[in-house]
Amino acid sequence: MKRILLGVTGGIAAYKSAELVRLLRKQGAEVQVVMTKSAMQFISPLTFQALSGNPVHTELLDADVENAMGHISLARWADLLLIAPATANILAKLAHGLADDLLSTLYLAATCPVYVAPAMNQAMWNKMVTQENIQTLHRHGVKVIGPEQGDQACGETGYGRMSEPMAICAQLLANDKPDLLTISQYLKGHKILISAGPTCEPLDPVRYLTNRSSGKMGYALATAALKAGAEVTLISGPVALTAPAGVELIKVTTAEEMYQAVMSKVATQTIYIGAAAVADYSPVLSQPEKIKKQADQLTIVLQKNKDILAAVAADTSRPFTVGFAAETHDLETYARDKLTRKNLDMIAANWVGQEQGGFDSEENALQVFWANGDKSFPMTDKTQLAKQLMALIAERIQAV
Ligand code: C5P
Repeated sequence: MKRILLGVTGGIAAYKSAELVRLLRKQGAEVQVVMTKSAMQFISPLTFQALSGNPVHTELLDADVENAMGHISLARWADLLLIAPATANILAKLAHGLADDLLSTLYLAATCPVYVAPAMNQAMWNKMVTQENIQTLHRHGVKVIGPEQGDQACGETGYGRMSEPMAICAQLLANDKPDLLTISQYLKGHKILISAGPTCEPLDPVRYLTNRSSGKMGYALATAALKAGAEVTLISGPVALTAPAGVELIKVTTAEEMYQAVMSKVATQTIYIGAAAVADYSPVLSQPEKIKKQADQLTIVLQKNKDILAAVAADTSRPFTVGFAAETHDLETYARDKLTRKNLDMIAANWVGQEQGGFDSEENALQVFWANGDKSFPMTDKTQLAKQLMALIAERIQAV
């Protein structure tokens, strides 16, 4: 069981942290809550005491509390410190090493990973000093979750809403040691359709046109989605991989077969991830017999295949639709162009070409874009990357 110290500071989003405690405990974590003075103006310590099953810590210099669990031993106790909501004030204090209350002192004493989920008015979030504090915290190794864009309690709209509790849980699970939380079911109730691998377009009975693709990313995504509690259907072109147990596997060969399989399944899905390297063109005629080596030149006429991803996204009752883009240059421009042209909810782009990872490699790096945001995942193995991407998808679904 993992021990999570949850710091709650004074923002209207403090009410969401009650749900966060419940979710963290449900996933096997032991939770202790530390509240600042202003947090107690928004929500009572009793709520957190009842939900965490532990007394709530509020004072730095309270003789009774110090005896029971001093700030140093509380910091030592934690496997992870999460501050949610994190106000502009606490971010400024952490960035500059101030320690004038229990939570800021705990941060200085903590040696475990630290996460913050900021929540504040959009102008306060955008203020240069807040952004500089966030950069400082990044440099100091603090991981920042959110904030999200949307309507705010103050009546304004913009970045500053705290990420939803479910999304925060998903990020903790994806970013940290795999055993941080034992079981996470953050995609429970979701039906996820993933297409993976290459397609093969026959020229004759022994030859075909194809794309370089191992299918590793799509299969890793299927595993991550399954572990997160989703029902998963994997539509796969020819690959040398074994599908994870518990996944519904539909094997296809050509782009047309993949199109038919995806379309027959998509109506019942909540998420579609097009991770396949679908051939853009296929021979107009596949010769029934092996083409003989006679002519010096051979012309093959190709026709454009249907764009599966665009077809899924064109449906008005479509699932949350995620595409991939492998690019050799101008990554962001091409990825953003595909995002709008194909009407996607999200696109995960990676560099391909010499020494870039991507095809066939065990590792990859991704830059993910959506209408008004983006996130980069540095080079890591595809299993880890798939977990991070699934967590981001869960977060974005809640935001739309
Ligand atoms: O347009 P482009 O092929 O670069 O876009 C890549 C994305 O579109 C990938 O997610 C891929 O799976 C999907 N795609 C598709 N059907 C096609 C071609 C690409 O679903 N015929």
